[in-house]
Amino acid sequence: MTVSETERPRRLIVCAGTGCVSSDSLDVFDSLRDRLEEDEAGDGVEVHVSGCHGFCEEGPLLRLEPSGVLYTGVDTEDIEEILERTVDRGEIVEDLCYSGPDGQVYAVEESIPFYDGQRRIVLSNSGSIDPGEIASYRAEGGYEPLDRVLTEMDPAEVCAQVKDAGLRGRGGAGFPAGVKWELARDNDSATRYLIANCDEGDPGAFMDRSLVEGDPHRVLEGMAIAGYGIGASQGYVFVRAEYPLAVKRIEAAISAAREAGYLGEDILDSGFSFDIEVKKGAGAFVSGEETALIKSVEGKRGMPEPRPPYPTDSGLWGQPTVINNVETLANVPEIIRRGSDWFADIGTAESPGTKTFAVSGDVQNTGLIEVPMGTTLREIVFDVAGGIDGDGEFKAVQIGGPSGGCLTSEHLDMPLTFDSLEAVGAMIGSGGLVVMDDSNCMVAVARFFLSFTQEESCGKCPPCRLGTARMLEILEAFTDGEADESDLARLERLAEYVSEASLCGLGKTAPSPVQSTLRYFRDEYEAHLEGRCPTGECFAPDETVATPPGGGQ
Ligand SMILES: Cc1cc2nc3c(=O)[nH]c(=O)nc-3n(C[C@H](O)[C@H](O)[C@H](O)COP(=O)(O)O)c2cc1C
Repeated sequence: MTVSETERPRRLIVCAGTGCVSSDSLDVFDSLRDRLEEDEAGDGVEVHVSGCHGFCEEGPLLRLEPSGVLYTGVDTEDIEEILERTVDRGEIVEDLCYSGPDGQVYAVEESIPFYDGQRRIVLSNSGSIDPGEIASYRAEGGYEPLDRVLTEMDPAEVCAQVKDAGLRGRGGAGFPAGVKWELARDNDSATRYLIANCDEGDPGAFMDRSLVEGDPHRVLEGMAIAGYGIGASQGYVFVRAEYPLAVKRIEAAISAAREAGYLGEDILDSGFSFDIEVKKGAGAFVSGEETALIKSVEGKRGMPEPRPPYPTDSGLWGQPTVINNVETLANVPEIIRRGSDWFADIGTAESPGTKTFAVSGDVQNTGLIEVPMGTTLREIVFDVAGGIDGDGEFKAVQIGGPSGGCLTSEHLDMPLTFDSLEAVGAMIGSGGLVVMDDSNCMVAVARFFLSFTQEESCGKCPPCRLGTARMLEILEAFTDGEADESDLARLERLAEYVSEASLCGLGKTAPSPVQSTLRYFRDEYEAHLEGRCPTGECFAPDETVATPPGGGQ
């Protein structure tokens, strides 16, 4: 296979998302660059890095432009062949292209079935532009929406456009962004703040990290537009310190945007001033909760506060504050560019737009995806993610991380939206989606998520501090084969108390994985009461439990 003369590679783009970096893609980048410089091979051919393509399972990835050919699983030993055959002769190295389970080779990235059901808005640049080059973002029309906002729109119009688009918060609760902006704006205060939430503490989630690493200017542009809309002059990006690459890229992007006049005093001579600072979180899950996050930005211990007052009335240093997830903000430039009707037409009427999901677990294509809201679980698991990896059968999906719930085969054809998920005891959450085959014990799954929330409970309110600890003890009794009937009843009662009485969302939603596994897999809990783990994950099917059921009490 060869590409035409006009499609001969001019740019070699090495994926520098965290997944590919961890499998040494930067060595590929360095070697390619050195070889091209040293030999003057491929005269005029440039080497760049990009953010995450989402197809993490197949990394390290190398995209060739303008042809759009994608090489997968590239390592430094492939470089000579790539230079000789692809760069010099325009040949496609088929062995490096993705081949599907049926052996079919897909050379061009966009033709790979993984991308078929996807619609990439916030991730449209990730995997192609160089996140370290502001020019690369501008070449895709970046910062034009900000320019337009500052020259043609007043702040109320900006809020109205986002409200009309129906953009709902991507950080979990799905609150309408435009409404939140107006609430802050209507507050009679000379100082207002904006915070972009990139804490992302839930296990299995890496959407926000990948977005910030892959297209940091999109987030900054969304923030500058939001800042103008709500009347803020200072914004913060709250990123967990365990995301060093995201921190590095967003800090570099802030400097570049300041230098180019998109941040700072009198942006683009409009009279509007807005600057952004990065605040690093210390890695506590609860710090992603908005009132705890505010404390953390103020330099205090990240612990939640009762609401009301809501941050739009009294937030950072007591001033009206809008907190939005980074994905929410990353949608804003495109809503300004293409209009609210364009956005409202994507997805469903109540949940317009797209959603990114971090897909992991027992599927062929783990990775980062962006699909229209309303896409079904079946389309995500079996089309985009390529179905179950191995011989197992699909069993369940844990959606929304430790605050979310499980979905089963009966939900495969349900369109995923904020509201449809709530109706079945789950939530989109920030977008973690862990797929499980039938080798997984759902009691062990519930224990895993509860052990996470129990450990992450900040301890401020007793229902969460003590309730999650007691619930975990009971779950451990189940997985040790030592629980009895009364434990099941206590578990259900405690789950209700904890979710009703806890101070913040962490405690209120901590019981969800337990409640939803009880709802859909009660038989597995009951089997454990009989000293049997149906999958053998907690103890082997033929293992006699040393203590008879209830003997642990
Ligand atoms: C325990 C807990 C952790 C949270 N973590 C995050 C997070 O990492 N990122 C996020 O955007 N929202 C998180 N949230 C939700 C935030 O409190 C808040 O609703 C969100 O940032 C608002 O942005 P949005 O309206 O754009 O979704 C968390 C909530 C709870 C209860």
